[in-house]
Amino acid sequence: MNKSVLHSSSTNAPEYFDRQDWASAYCNVEEELNDYVLELVSGSLPEQLSGTLYKNGPGRLERSGQWVHHPFDGDGMITAVKIKNGKITFSNRFVQTEAWKEEEKAGKFIYRGVFGTQKSGGPLANAFDLRLKNIANTHVVQLGNELLALWEAAGPHALNPNNLETFGLSNLGGVLQPGEAFSAHPRFDPGHHGHHRMVTFGVKTGPQSTIRLMEFDNNGTSPSKLISDRKDIFKGFAFLHDFAITPNWAIFLQNAISFNPIPFLIGQKGAAQCLRSKQGDKGKFLLIPRDCGAYAGQSPLTFDAPQGFVFHHLNAWEKNQNIIIESIYYKDFPSIAPHEDFRQINFDQIPEGQLKSCSINIPDKEIEVVQISPQCCEFAMVNPRNQGLQSHYCWMAVAEQKTGNAPLQAIKKVNLSNRDECFWSAAPRGFVSEPIMIPNPASKLEDEGWIIVLVWNSQRKATDLVILEASDLSERALVHLPIAIPYGLHGSWVSSKDHH
Ligand code: CO
Repeated sequence: MNKSVLHSSSTNAPEYFDRQDWASAYCNVEEELNDYVLELVSGSLPEQLSGTLYKNGPGRLERSGQWVHHPFDGDGMITAVKIKNGKITFSNRFVQTEAWKEEEKAGKFIYRGVFGTQKSGGPLANAFDLRLKNIANTHVVQLGNELLALWEAAGPHALNPNNLETFGLSNLGGVLQPGEAFSAHPRFDPGHHGHHRMVTFGVKTGPQSTIRLMEFDNNGTSPSKLISDRKDIFKGFAFLHDFAITPNWAIFLQNAISFNPIPFLIGQKGAAQCLRSKQGDKGKFLLIPRDCGAYAGQSPLTFDAPQGFVFHHLNAWEKNQNIIIESIYYKDFPSIAPHEDFRQINFDQIPEGQLKSCSINIPDKEIEVVQISPQCCEFAMVNPRNQGLQSHYCWMAVAEQKTGNAPLQAIKKVNLSNRDECFWSAAPRGFVSEPIMIPNPASKLEDEGWIIVLVWNSQRKATDLVILEASDLSERALVHLPIAIPYGLHGSWVSSKDHH
């Protein structure tokens, strides 16, 4: 591991990165490539690794000199890396949303972004323009024989998995109403009740919030079919980005957060900038019984949650009368003020994410929280075969430094039983995105497989693809991609046997 320290800040804490190197990833993607053949720079491709990595993330961050206020407002672009028979190819294509087509034609932003991007013309031009721009930039998953590009405040866009062509907004065969919210964080039940299922949700927020929990058959041979559907109403405003599943429960963490829509209505802020942590208040866990489980049809349960703000969960599982849910907690809701430039952020002033495990004792209504690691982290996952079940290992993106907030530069594997850790690092000039764990189809061992991750190489000003051994994070293969891709959000691996 490369441990060179670039320079020290005034507080004497060593810094492992240069902020300009980090910020250099933010650029427009100007090219769309189709099945571009890649060469390995080093290493070799594992023989059993066969399938496609799909990633989604903002690919357009600037139009006619105006930058988005936050990268989350950038239009979704899908990256596909296909690995088969020792060959590796690369494709990328923007999701052709209606707003993307309109703005391409106009050559400027004509919609406001949820994270604060404004149309030109100041507050007057933005006031009372409450149209949502579905930017389809948060996640990409395969359901049935389609890819879905997801954005949580509106419906999914269906794409062709082979060439990434956009078919258009999908209502999933009549399941979704026009404009209905559909989460960007489905969970894939690996067969808790026989078939593989995609479990997901939509939230309608207001003074009270409605969660719609949906389960789709995802056996890989037929188009998606909705097999379970329930709605529950909860008190208060709910900002729910992610959730977790176990065989019997869908588990949500309703953060203690309030929404003041006035600055959004009068054109001063984006909707997400109007969220504030309710200081001193605790969030709530909402446990909704799954229709296929032991408590089907029963009412949801609620429990106090620990202090802090959560976007992402690692996993959840059941143990006797307890539910254990592992999540990444922030001290406060991280937001970017209207006058700040996201490329100039001071990492020290934003809280870092820390992995914690919370055990909910259902009969006693008690919770117990333990920190798994203090190190700044995001994008954690377990072996997908263990989704909803107790897992002994997890993989995540972490900062190079052991404490405090900093950009994600390394990949960490944690043994959840004894807290042993191992690392692969791209520091000082590399910056990692979400790692995807791919189990070795020829092995039953939980940590046998590969980690595949896109890395911003600030020296080359382009993106690298790195394949690591999941067991010890040794580097297996390195590929230079022919283009520069800004830091992405979520993605998934579709193995060749699940392709149609
Ligand atoms: Co997310």
